[in-house]
Amino acid sequence: MENEKIIQQQEKKALFISILLMAVFISMIVYGIKGVGVDLPTCISNVQPYETGKVVQVSDKEYEIYYVARMWFFDPQNVEIPVGSKVRIYLTSLDVTHGLHIWGTNVNLMAIPNAVNYYEVKFNKEGEYIVSCHEYCGIAHQNMIGKIIVKSSIENLGQNINNIQTAAQVGGEKTW
Ligand code: CUA
Repeated sequence: MENEKIIQQQEKKALFISILLMAVFISMIVYGIKGVGVDLPTCISNVQPYETGKVVQVSDKEYEIYYVARMWFFDPQNVEIPVGSKVRIYLTSLDVTHGLHIWGTNVNLMAIPNAVNYYEVKFNKEGEYIVSCHEYCGIAHQNMIGKIIVKSSIENLGQNINNIQTAAQVGGEKTW
């Protein structure tokens, strides 16, 4: 009888601890999403498939970058945006599976043929952010590098974004 009581108490304790742990885990997930802003990249279906990269200025400090990944470059290669901009990143691939990681941010997407992946990021600091492929995609994988240049202000923005030359436009040669 005495033993049974002790066991019951220990069971209650174990139950209490596991419920407490569950509560801790759940609140950590909630904190990650709400507090730290950790978010899962999403594959979206409401964007028309596209084959050329482009930069769209939605409003003053709101941009959309439509990235195309292909052997072995990103289109657009270099993008300039003003500091404090919110940027919606769209990514697709025209050949094999590539990756896209923007250094210094938590943008980390897969570029998948016939699919568009999406992530949103805000650039609060000026500087040059390297964009690189993180999925081995062939002989020149290491050359798949682009840049997002975050500036305090941008003159002739339209000109800058329209003048981006990609390897495709110069005959598939590497230009960097
Ligand atoms: Cu593209 Cu590695």
